[in-house]
Parts: sequence; structure tokens; C-alpha cells
Amino acid sequence: MTASKLNTILHTPLGRRQLIKSTTGVLAALATSAPQLSLAQKPLLGFKPISAADKIDDVRVPVGYLAEVFYAWGDPVSNGPTFKFDASNSADEQALQAGMHHDAMQFFALPATDKPRALLVMNHEYIDAQILHADGGIFDAPQRYDLEKTRKEQHAHGVSVIEIEQNNGHWEIVRPSVYARRLTANTPMQVSGPAAGHSLLQTAADPEAEQILGTFNNCANGKTPWGTYLSCEENFNDYFSLATDGADEVSRKQKKRWQRYDLGQSYYGWHLNDQRFDLNKHPNEANRFGWIVEFDPLDPHSMPVKRTALGRFSHENVAHKVAEDGRVAFYSGDDAEFEYLYKFVTAEAWDGTEGSHHGALLDSGVLYVARFNEDGSGEWLPLIYGHGELTPANGFNDQADVVVHARLAADAVGATQLDRPEWVVTHPQTGEVYVSLTNNVARKQTDAVNPRAKNRFGHIIQFSEQDASATDFVWRIFELAGAKNSEATIHGDQYANPDGMMIDERGVLWVQTDISTSKLNQGDFKQFGNNQMLAVDPVSGESRRFLTGPNGCEITGAVMAPDMRTMWVNIQHPGEQQQLPGTTLTKSAQHPNASSNWPNQRADGRPRSATVMIRREDGGVIGG
Ligand code: FEO
Ligand code: CA
Ligand code: CA
Repeated sequence: MTASKLNTILHTPLGRRQLIKSTTGVLAALATSAPQLSLAQKPLLGFKPISAADKIDDVRVPVGYLAEVFYAWGDPVSNGPTFKFDASNSADEQALQAGMHHDAMQFFALPATDKPRALLVMNHEYIDAQILHADGGIFDAPQRYDLEKTRKEQHAHGVSVIEIEQNNGHWEIVRPSVYARRLTANTPMQVSGPAAGHSLLQTAADPEAEQILGTFNNCANGKTPWGTYLSCEENFNDYFSLATDGADEVSRKQKKRWQRYDLGQSYYGWHLNDQRFDLNKHPNEANRFGWIVEFDPLDPHSMPVKRTALGRFSHENVAHKVAEDGRVAFYSGDDAEFEYLYKFVTAEAWDGTEGSHHGALLDSGVLYVARFNEDGSGEWLPLIYGHGELTPANGFNDQADVVVHARLAADAVGATQLDRPEWVVTHPQTGEVYVSLTNNVARKQTDAVNPRAKNRFGHIIQFSEQDASATDFVWRIFELAGAKNSEATIHGDQYANPDGMMIDERGVLWVQTDISTSKLNQGDFKQFGNNQMLAVDPVSGESRRFLTGPNGCEITGAVMAPDMRTMWVNIQHPGEQQQLPGTTLTKSAQHPNASSNWPNQRADGRPRSATVMIRREDGGVIGG
């Protein structure tokens, strides 16, 4: 793309472009009028921004704010085993404690008694074996990598449900709690939708393909309008092994499918002690992951359900909008280089009431994938068996085939490859949708929606639809991330690699960053400091740095209490950096705290992912 074309896309307001291009007047009106809503009020952002953190091993927030550690890896979910700083908790104990690598969160209000009560539900995405175990994982000590270690790793994945209550304005964890719960990589789950019972999901342990053991790599999440939690399985491919000497027995079609999902290299070694992770022995096991999992946290005995109609890919998170007629749209990005953005629209309308029985709505509907046109328009392309290219002639035999191999189906219909779609969030007032595209250094060929070759800093796009059920949309680039002297379009505090996002009820867009540990604090990423969270005014575009994290972490997941006076933020993988620039000690199983020792800072301790609770000293609204 030429520089002038990029300039035009960036600086032509969405509304004007749409007025020129759209044949639908309603869409044009929506695009031009929507962002005005918050203009009449006082400025959205009322805090004094903080500086970038130059290798400061702590959480920093603005003057007038308080941040305290709320729920750290190893804390018991209920009355359970206490955390041992030498990482000697057993696998069974880990199953009753907070998992590692906290990611997205949701808040579920409970009926108030004498005080406000709620459930905080969050994902634990992955693990750092050098920190999880006293003597490291498969790569540190292969001869000592046994089933107990595999189980501890599996139990450090999944989801936490904790009960919280508010005492004198201060939220605290309730222990014991009848709601407290962990889902792990071994928790039984149902499967529903087009792939339930299908031969593609059948295994020796589950010949009927009706019950799947566990969920893992639970990245971000979502909530249904009827009040259940949606957990997204992201990089499930990292857990399966495929020995190449067995590959001859594998059909060409199967090989192509595995390659398209980047399957074959395990980063954890689970297959050595738990055979279902060995694809040579159990080729369909990998088809049972990469889904969105629904469960009802208010029913501690409910069995989670993998909803296959929403497609199988590296789900980052899922956001929803309700259409005029009551059908519900769910948006989800596939986080890998050159992957796609999807939308699922339920076939039936939701009646506006709460209750997990509405979950069946997620089992039938249309899965779409996005095509972004150069002129700022876009289309949702349906992934329906028998339509267009999705036929037996192209390797698709039924709708199960389409959803299990959603990436291949999206390839076939001509979707637009994006620069790693991370989170999708919807604006509560305008209905606009924002998508973070975190980076894609492999990009050579640019286009309007991915305007930078070797996209190192990432960007955020925004689109509007006439209705959540619409099959077209208008889009624009909201912000190009990066430093002031690059082509970045940020107004205010600079950041790179947007990932987690949340839009609060006032309309503040909270952006969380995930500069990878291989780049953090180095080269031209040094200026951004440690990973951080910023508040962005979507109308003015102004960004202010609100929080910086400890060394080697990313910031991911944020949720507010309904009164907006308490916010919880997750600090993921502190201490992941192998070596802090400018220091000499390298992180290892022997030195797990070489690059971070947050939050406890004990000489005999180790860094811990944790939920941090943030309040204002004056009890005011967060960010205001
Ligand atoms: Fe789990 Fe794409 O972040
Ligand atoms: Ca992420
Ligand atoms: Ca990321």
C-alpha cells in the first residue's frame, strides 16, 4: 500500500467513508453519530498518568490509588492447602489452589445478604515449569519428569471460581465457600453442537465423543447475556506431541490439518506420562480442544460444556452483542499470525432472562469469518457446510468437519488474514467493536487493515454494524501502536503490543500490553518499560498510563465491580524473562526469581501471577 493510501484510511473518519461507500443509510448514521455519546460529560479520564516502569519489580498505579495483591498463584480457592514458597505443593494440592498465569476475569453478583457478595471467575492460561516445580519441568530435568509433575502442571491450568464479599467498601475472599471451584486439564466436560458425538472427536477413552477431560490454555473469556462464563481455549496445539517417524502412517489430509493447526511440538511433555497427548496414539484428542467452554459458576456442581458450533481455533476471548430480534452474536479472534476474526450468530432469539438453560442457544446458528475490504467496508462470510467452497470436493464432509477445521474453512471462503487478533470488546453505549491486533513481524504484504509490514508494535481496529446479526460492517483503524517517532497514531502515553482490553460502563477503553519477554526492556521496546495498562478515551483518542506491572509480566484481564469503585487486574507470568537486561543472573529452576520476585520478594521465594485489587483512596470511580 502506498503511504498516501494508508494516510487516507487512517485519517478519514469512519462516518465520512461510510457515507461515501454505504448504500445503507442506517449504517452511515450509526457510524457518524455513535461516538458522540460521552462528549457532553466531563472528561472521561481524571487521573494523572504514571511514567513507564524501567525494570521496577512492582505494580504501580497513579497518585490517589491503592493496589493490593488479592489472589495469587497457590492461594487456596476455599479452605485449602497453603502455598509453599519452595514450590513443594503436590499435584493434588495444586488442584485446590489458584492456578498459574492468571488471564481474563468476570464478575458475577450473588444475591446480597447483609453485604454485597459475588463470584470472581478467571482463567489460568499456562505455566512456567521452572517456577511451578521445585526443580523445574521437562526441559530442566527430563529424568525427573514424572506423572506427579504432569498432573501438577495440568492442575495449574484451567479456571478459578472464588467467592468474594465486601466489608466496609473492601472486597475480600470468602473461605470456605460452597462456590469455590477449580476447573483443570482433567475436569470432565460435556461436548455439544455439530461436533458432539462425531467420529472426529471419538477416542479410545471416549468412543461416543460425549465427554472430554479438561480444558487448558484458557486465555481470555467472555460472558453470556444469560449469566454464564465462557472460557476460551487458545494455544492447545502446544500440548500435543507428534513423532515424525509415525507420520508415514498418517494420511495426507490429516497431516495437512495438523499443520494448519500447528500441531506436533509439545512444550510440556505431558505425552510422556499421559498418553492422550500423544497424537500418534490418539490422533483425535487434539480435536477436542480449541473450543469455547461454557459453565455456570453459580451452580458449583454444573458440568462445563464445549460449544463446538463456535468453531475450533486459538480462541483469544469472546465478546457478545444482542441483535434487535434477540439473536446473540459472539465475536472471537484466532490469535496467530495471519489468522482470522469470527462471529457466531445464534439461530434462535434469547428471551432476555437469565439462566444456564439458555446455553443451548450456542449449539445452533451461523459461524462467520470476516473479510475486510480496502475501502473500509467488510463482510461476514458464512461457514456453512454445502455452501460455496465448503463441500466434499474441498475436503468438508459435514458441519462437524467445518467447525473442527474452521481455519481451513475460513481459508476456503477467502477471509482476511490479520496481524494476530487478540481481544474483541464491544462498547456498552455505541455498540462499536474494537479488536486488538498485537503484532505480526512475519507480514511482508500489507493491506488496508494490516497496514504495516513487519508489524512489531501492533494496532487496534474498530468496526460498526447496523445490527449484531448483520452480514456487513464498516471498519477503520483506531490506533497504530508504537513510539512517537514511528508512524504510531497514539495521542498521549505510548504503548506497544495491545492485547487485553475492557470497555467500562462509562466508555473508557482499557488497553493492556503484552510485549514479549524476548523484547521487553530492550532495543526500541525499552522506551515502553514493563508491560502496562492504559486508559484510552475512544472519542478523543487520548491515552493515559494507569498501571505498570512487575518485571517480565504481561497485564491481561480486568474487571470492575458494578459500582466502578473497585477494579481487579491480572498480572500474568512475572519473572518470565530469562535475564533482566543489565543483570547477570539467568532464570532457571535453581533461580526462579532471577528476573522478578513479585509479589512477596522473599529470598527463598518465587514470582507469582496474581490478581491485584485497585481502589481509589477517596473511594471514587476508577479512572474518573
Ligand atoms: Fe493468550 Fe493471545 O493471548
Ligand atoms: Ca492475550
Ligand atoms: Ca499476547
